[in-house]
Parts: sequence; structure tokens; C-alpha cells
Amino acid sequence: MKKAFMSVATIILVLCSFIFSSCTSSPKGLASFDPQVKELLEKMTLEEKIGQMTQPEQDQVLSNPGDMQKYFIGSVLSGGNSDPAEGNSLEAWTDLYDRVQEEGMKTGLKIPVLYGIDAVHGHSNVLGAVMFPHNIALGCTRDAELVEEIGRITAKEMRATGIPWTFGPCVTVPQDIRWGRTYEGFSEDPAIVRYLGKAAVLGLQGSDLSNPLSVLACAKHYVGDGGTTATTDPRPGFPAGPEGRLWLDQGDTEMDEAALRRIHLPGYIAAIEAGVGSIMPSYSTWNGVRCSASKRLLTEILKEELGFEGFLISDYNAIYQIDPKNAKKSIMISINAGMDMAMVPSGYRDFFNDLKELVEEGKVPMSRIDDAVTRILRVKFALGLMDESRSQKADRSLHRDFGSSEHRALAREAIRKSVVLLKNDNQTLPISKEVARIHVSGKSADNIGNQCGGWTILWQGKTGNVTPGGATVLEAVKAAVSTNTKVTYSLDGMGADGATLGIAVIGELPYAEGIGDRADLSLDAQDIAVVNNLKSAGIPVVVLVISGRPLIVNEILPQADALLAAFLPGTEGQGITDVLFGDYNPTGKLSFSWPKSNDQLPLNINMPEVDYDPLFPFGHGLSY
Ligand code: BGC
Ligand code: BGC
Repeated sequence: MKKAFMSVATIILVLCSFIFSSCTSSPKGLASFDPQVKELLEKMTLEEKIGQMTQPEQDQVLSNPGDMQKYFIGSVLSGGNSDPAEGNSLEAWTDLYDRVQEEGMKTGLKIPVLYGIDAVHGHSNVLGAVMFPHNIALGCTRDAELVEEIGRITAKEMRATGIPWTFGPCVTVPQDIRWGRTYEGFSEDPAIVRYLGKAAVLGLQGSDLSNPLSVLACAKHYVGDGGTTATTDPRPGFPAGPEGRLWLDQGDTEMDEAALRRIHLPGYIAAIEAGVGSIMPSYSTWNGVRCSASKRLLTEILKEELGFEGFLISDYNAIYQIDPKNAKKSIMISINAGMDMAMVPSGYRDFFNDLKELVEEGKVPMSRIDDAVTRILRVKFALGLMDESRSQKADRSLHRDFGSSEHRALAREAIRKSVVLLKNDNQTLPISKEVARIHVSGKSADNIGNQCGGWTILWQGKTGNVTPGGATVLEAVKAAVSTNTKVTYSLDGMGADGATLGIAVIGELPYAEGIGDRADLSLDAQDIAVVNNLKSAGIPVVVLVISGRPLIVNEILPQADALLAAFLPGTEGQGITDVLFGDYNPTGKLSFSWPKSNDQLPLNINMPEVDYDPLFPFGHGLSY
């Protein structure tokens, strides 16, 4: 009898712990905050509601004293170049955050401001933050646990400045590597995007958004941003470029709904499963209709079918692309389609006034405004922002761990797991740490800015010393070898005579968004010369490519005894030398197909109708 009772108790215990663990691992539904939200909503005027839906850029609104209060601003952003006036130090960012919150709390109902930023590979606008590899590299790790941990550390570094919302993860599924945003995607394969996207949301948001070390995530850009057709139509707002310049960014995704769902939707399904609190509709169009204008996409699929309970934030001025000649009409269409918050960096006053008029004219129903504000407030409650017992100021005790060696160790691990060994003739790699002399060359050999790519301190990133901390490849090589080894360096690959081995570090300079759209992915002449110069010293040559996407490497392939792709690894160059010197046996696998020629593009694994004949197939990656 006693025994039987024991086993029943055990079963109950196991059941309870199962139920408990599944409760803690799946975040609390956002709609569970509706009772508190409703109470607050009932007290709000139309102006206060519209203020919650209006997101100016911080520098724009702060330079007009009184506007935060006058327009009841509920959210601000820092776009890629919207930095503190005092520069990009940790202090300056934290001070800016506190100032914004202070301004927000002077407003009628004292609803805290939700501050958003592109912390897309670490807290990447802040000097001295750990810059993790961009998503394209993380895709090569296939490691969800790692991606989740990166999200957790990114959230922690963000919270050191107070900022509780990142416009990430990007769950794009780039189908054409000529697109300048290819590196923001984990893979051309929807399955990889699906599970790594989910891991990223779980890492950033944690199991409970109210944890002061969690941040709100934003899955973007919904949907099909990576599926656009290349055209030569110029893009308004971007520099024109030479005749025949190719554009993919903000283009048209031409495909039926079944294909859209198969390739581009899975990342969002996973993000919603992980409890993502915000989603950013894409600039791009789907069969000619702006995503920001599509009720089918925003309301029917996301909110009704997939049960998304968070809010939609429009992309930077994207609403106005719906009808470029008629701003008010664009706002009407987008809000009625289901957009909840508008990213209107400088035009926030017009947005506010136009939307107010639209409601008064009966062109946007009050029920739509209430739905939008409910969704935004749910997230504010979930984040604990509404908790009056909590300080609205940043927690400066977190400064101590900002950019710490523990955080950098995680980035180093991410790099060594993401480097893909493409070719390794005659066991050129791993290199012994005892060789007599290594000659290192190439424009990215000693260049942290090139390692980090776009979205690093500046929107477009910057070649050279963009941020302190970390190590360039050259610095990492010097740190790795024994005292018997001499390390020499030249930018152009000259002077390698007598060396045991040469390392060429070549690839792309930083870029972001449409600025990086390129028809020709060939190596530049300078890079080819570096490899040839090293080779002419009669030594084995290791070529390391640092780039936002696969490049056409045929011209140097015969001269490269070993070839590796590091994509955009970020600040911790030692992750690369862990692989070069064999402290880590490479495991990275390509998350994109690597083409032989420009003529083959677009080339990916989702095109059964095309002859798949890449230089290195999707999934390729050697070990020692
Ligand atoms: C970017 C912003 C950037 C701005 C510069 C936008 O498209 O996303 O982050 O600051 O352009 O004009
Ligand atoms: C980009 C987004 C980004 C936003 C804010 C836009 O130009 O498309 O990815 O989150 O700017 O910087």
C-alpha cells in the first residue's frame, strides 16, 4: 500500500515538474496582461494613444524641447547613425537613455518610453561592446545553444545602457547573395533560419521578459525581404550609382503564397513560438504590394492565423513608400492593414497629426487604434516597464561586465565554430605554432572594422579602427605563435620571401542595406594581387576571406593551398587563429551556396528548376 502510494506520488511529482518546466520555458502569453492594459487604455485620450504609436528618432525629438510631452511619445529609436551627441561611449549611451526616460516620465500618464536600437551583432552601436559574428557566420555553426547564449549576452550589454529593445533577430532567408543584406541572414535554408531565429529570440527575451536582463526582440523584415528580384530600377533615397547598377534591396518578391510560406515564413512561426514581442514589416513588396500595406500579411496571417500577440513596428519611413505622393493616405492604408507603431524618424509630428485626423474623419476606426495600443502596452507591461517599484534608469552596475573577457570568450567560441574550411591541399592547415616565419598580408589582416562589417558603430560600419577591444587577425596570429616564430606583415603581400608560409586576409569592405547590393562579386584586383605576391615567394598560401557573402574566388583558387571563409566574424580574431593553428578542428558548414561565377547568380538550394553547380555546395566544410 505504502509502496503504491509512493509510486503515485512519484508520478505526480514527475508530471508536476514536467508541467512546471514547460511553463517556465515558454514565455507568458502577452495577452495575459490585458486586464492591466484595459484599465490604462480607458484613461487614455486619443492623443495619448497615438503618441504610443509614434516612434521618432531620439535626436530629432530631443532637439525640439517639449515635443516628447506634446506628442505623448511612447517610443524612440536610434537608427544606424542616430548616436548620442557626446559620442558612442558606454557612458554617453547610458546618459542618453536616462535622459529619454526622464523626458517620457514628464508626460501625462507617465508611461515609460520604449527605446529601440539595432543591436544586431552584439550591442553594436556602442564603443567597446563585444561585436559577435553577423548572422551569416552564425548560420555556419548550426548551433542553437550558442546563438541563444549570444542573445543573452547581447541583452545584458544592452541593458547596461538601459535600452530594452533590439530590432533583431533578422530572420530573412536571402535567396540571392548579390543582396547587400545577405549577411544579416543565418542561411538561404528556411530550416536553419527557423531554428536559429527561435534560439535568438529565446536568448534575447529569456523565458520572462520582465527579467531586468532580458530585452524585447523584433523579428524582421516580414516577409520575403530576401526573395526580391534583382532589377536596375533606381531606389529613391539611395545614391543613384552607375548605369545598370543592380538593386535587390527593398524590391519585389514575386512568388505565390505557397512559396512565400515555404521559404520566408518559417522564421516568423518560430519567433512567435518563442514569444517574440515585436515584428518589423519589410520595405519590400510582395507581388507588387508593399508589405507595410498588406492586410493579408499583417492581420490575416500574422495576427489571426499565427496568433501573434505583440506589436508591429514599421521600418524606417517605410510607411511613406506606400504612396510616396500622399503621406496621409499611406498612413491610413498601413494602420488599417494592421501596423501598430510607426517608425517616423523626423516626420513624427506629421504622422501624429495625420493619424489623429484620420481617426476623427472615421477613416481609421477607433477599434484599430485600441488594438494597436493594447499590443504596445502589453509589451510594456511584460517588460516590467510599468512596474512603479522599478527605477526607469539604466542599471549602471552592469557597466562592469560590459565588453568583459567572459563575453569576448563567447564571441571567440562563436567564431571558431563558424569558420568554414573550404579547401586544404597537402595539409597546409593547421599551421604549427613553431614554424620559423609567417608572413601576413591583405587589406583585412589588421582591420577590425572590416572584420565587423556593417551595423558597427555606424550604419555602414567603417574600415579601420571602428571600435576598441578584440583582436585583428594579425594581432591574433602574433599572440598564438611560439616565441620561435617570427610574424611579418605587409599590406600588399610583398616581402614574403624566406617565410615558411603566407596568410592572405582579403574580402569585402563594410556596407549595409542597399548600399551593398552588387552585381559583381569578384575579388577586387588588390586582393588578387596580394595572393599572387605571396605565392610568388614560393611558399604555401592560406587565404582567409572576410566578407558579407560568398565571393567569386576562381582567380585565386589555384594559388590558395588552403582557403577559409570567416564571413563577418566581429571583434575576436583569436577565434580565427584557434582554427588556423589547430586548437580547434573546424566544424563550420556553409549556410549559403558558394558560386563559381557571377553568371550563376542567383544560386541556392531552393531552385529545383536550375542546374545546381556551385563551387562549394551548401553544407560544405572540411575538418582536419
Ligand atoms: C537606416 C538607419 C540610418 C538611416 C540613415 C536608414 O535606412 O536604417 O538606421 O540611420 O537610413 O539615413
Ligand atoms: C532597416 C531596419 C532597421 C531600421 C532602423 C531600416 O533602414 O531596414 O533593419 O531596423 O532601419 O535602423
